[in-house]
Formats: sequence, structure tokens, C-alpha cells
Amino acid sequence: DFRPIILAGGSGTRFWPRSRKARAKQVLALDGERTMIQRTVDRLAPLASPEDVWVITNDLLSGTICGQLDVVPDEHVVCEPAARNTAPAVGLAAFLIEKLNPEAVIGIFPADHVIGNQPEFIRVIEQAVNLAAAGENMVVLGVTPTRPETGYGYIETGEKIGEGVARVRRFTEKPNQERAEEFLAAGNYHWNSGIFIWSARTIANAIREHLPETAPLLEKIANAYGTPEFREVFAALYPQCENISVDYAVLEPRSAKGESRSSLYCLPANFGWNDLGSWAALFEHSHEIKANLDEHGNVTEASGSLAIEAHDNYVYTPQKFVALVGVKDLVVVETEDAVLITSRHHSQDVGKVVKELAAQG
Ligand code: GDD
Ligand code: MG
Repeated sequence: DFRPIILAGGSGTRFWPRSRKARAKQVLALDGERTMIQRTVDRLAPLASPEDVWVITNDLLSGTICGQLDVVPDEHVVCEPAARNTAPAVGLAAFLIEKLNPEAVIGIFPADHVIGNQPEFIRVIEQAVNLAAAGENMVVLGVTPTRPETGYGYIETGEKIGEGVARVRRFTEKPNQERAEEFLAAGNYHWNSGIFIWSARTIANAIREHLPETAPLLEKIANAYGTPEFREVFAALYPQCENISVDYAVLEPRSAKGESRSSLYCLPANFGWNDLGSWAALFEHSHEIKANLDEHGNVTEASGSLAIEAHDNYVYTPQKFVALVGVKDLVVVETEDAVLITSRHHSQDVGKVVKELAAQG
């Protein structure tokens, strides 16, 4: 009994101006025809029926998501009345599924990742589901790091306990630059892919243990699910939950219990995982899949383009013809009401625009 839970409540500010509150990255088709969340559900089809898929999101996105995912039952698209980061979202899903079947294995899947190697993805998830079903095991999927990225969690692995499986010695969420460089050099660290596999009972108990004040609120909400009071209970209690990610709330403290007692296991996730976290990441991904790419390394999504001594730019102007002359490494993104001009090396900072605009009201 495998139940995929898709986390889709993030705002994806680094894809401004294409992403806005009501059309965050997960409901956009950034690299093809299907949107990120549609592809997340598509790729799970060999593992679970769409009727067993749940989506945790917010009110601004829920209409769009229900429209895009006609295969997932609308009552499985749960809309948080306030954003409380991923720990309460995961906790609520855990309590909802625990009520249906405590032995069910839950998979947590971010809605906005790219997976290049589908057969390998299925193989690894199946292995993780078996490991999670075998006991109180919490399985994290680790990606081989290629740069000292500070926006990810890092999994230090220890004792190998079987084919590809290692115990987690330490989980460190978003280290500073210096530590990220140490981790990369050490060789036994993986990036946290953000995909977690554990039984409903195991994660529900972990939430009870690590979030003792939030867990009873979430249990009340889960108990009200399906009753006429649900919306009211949800709206009253959810905003009181702690605002924290599952990485900080559960994985870091769990790993501090020590390698053999933490019940945390890492499986290598070498299935072409890409978090697609910025315009620069989308540029690189487009190079890999050779999408909208010209012979000078420019990626242009435009109604025609011309490049003269211009290379390695990313341009999105779907309604317009674009000419690039003597420029390199630029990012230009045009939507109906806004234009972004930056360089590929600054695209991590685009989220600051959203913050600044919000501050200005
Ligand atoms: N329902 C809901 N509610 N979903 C949320 C919320 C929320 O309040 N906040 C974020 N999400 C969703 C996002 O849409 C995304 O799919 C997923 O949860 C992860 O959230 P991010 O905000 O993208 O997390 P992150 O990128 O800072 O870090 C996480 O992912 C990295 C890999 O991409 C961590 O798990 C890191 O350890 C990991 O390396
Ligand atoms: Mg992310």
C-alpha cells in the first residue's frame, strides 16, 4: 500500500516574473508541454494509482492544481489555510494516511523537480518502499553533489547495510559556504533530494516526538477530515502549527540520535535529479535536453530569434521575436506585465525582487 504525497505549496519566487503566487513554478510548464506537478504525478503512475495520490498545497494554487490533475480526486487536494512550511504539511499527510492504514508507506515528493531517468527512478523508489515497509525505517534519497550548493540539505552517510543502502550519520540542512565546500570535498556526503519514504506510522510518530505542540493540532485536523467542520477546524488550528521545514524539524534532530539509533537510511538517487531552482538551472537543464537551444548555446523561448556574436543567454519572450547582439550570460524574461533582466550568475537573487516588491506593498 503506497501513497504518494506531493508537496506543492511553495511560491517559487526565483522564477519571477513567470511565477507568481497564483502560478508558482509547480503549475508552470518550464521545460515542456506538461506542468511540473503534472509530470510529478505522471512519473508515479507505475507505482501507485492516481486515486492514492495526495497533494498538499494552498488556496491560491488549488484551483489550478485540481484543473491540471484531473486524475487525482479533488478531495485529495488539501489546501492549507496558511503556509507553515513542509513539517506541518508532511505531518498532516502522515496523520491522514495513518487513519486509513498505519502500515501504508508514504512517499513525499516535491512538486517541482525534474527526473531525467524514469526507469531508474522507479527502481530506486521501489527499493525505498520495501525498506520502509520492513520496519520503522526512514529513507532519504541522496544525490551525488557536484558543487558546494548552500540551498540544499546534506546527508553524511556511514555504515553500509546492504545493496546501495547506508545509514545516515548526520543530516545538515542548508550549510554555509565553508561547510558546503568541506562536505563536497569529504566524499561521503549527498544532497538531500527532498524525496522521503517512510510508513505512515513511522513518520506520524516522528512528528509526535519532534513537534509535540504541533502534532495534536494536526491530529485534530486529520480527525475532522471528511466532516462538515473540516474547513473550520483546519482554518482555526493550522495557523497555530510551528512554521518549520521537515528537514529542520525531523531529519536534523533525528540524525543527532546517532547512526544506529536514528533509523535513518540513505539510498543513492542517481536518476537525473534536478531541483530546477533558478533560471540558471533551467538554462543548464535546457542544454542537457537540448530544448530551444541554438548553436551558440543560447536558449530562447521566443517566436523566432537571431543571435549575432551572442552566446549562452537565456531568453523567454514567447510572444516576440528576439535579437541578441554581442551579449553573453544574460537572462531576459518577459511576461505580460513585467520584464526581468539579469545575468545567469545572479539568477539565485531573483527571489529578492519578490521580497522587495512585497515590502513596498
Ligand atoms: N504544502 C506545502 N506547504 N508545500 C510547501 C510549503 C508549504 O508551506 N513550503 C514548501 N513547499 C513545497 C514546495 O513547493 C516544494 O515542492 C517542497 O515543498 C520543498 O520546499 P522548498 O521551499 O523548495 O525547499 P528547499 O528547496 O528550500 O529545500 C528542500 O529541498 C531541497 C532539494 O530541492 C530541503 O528538503 C532540502 O534539504 C533539499 O536539499
Ligand atoms: Mg526547492
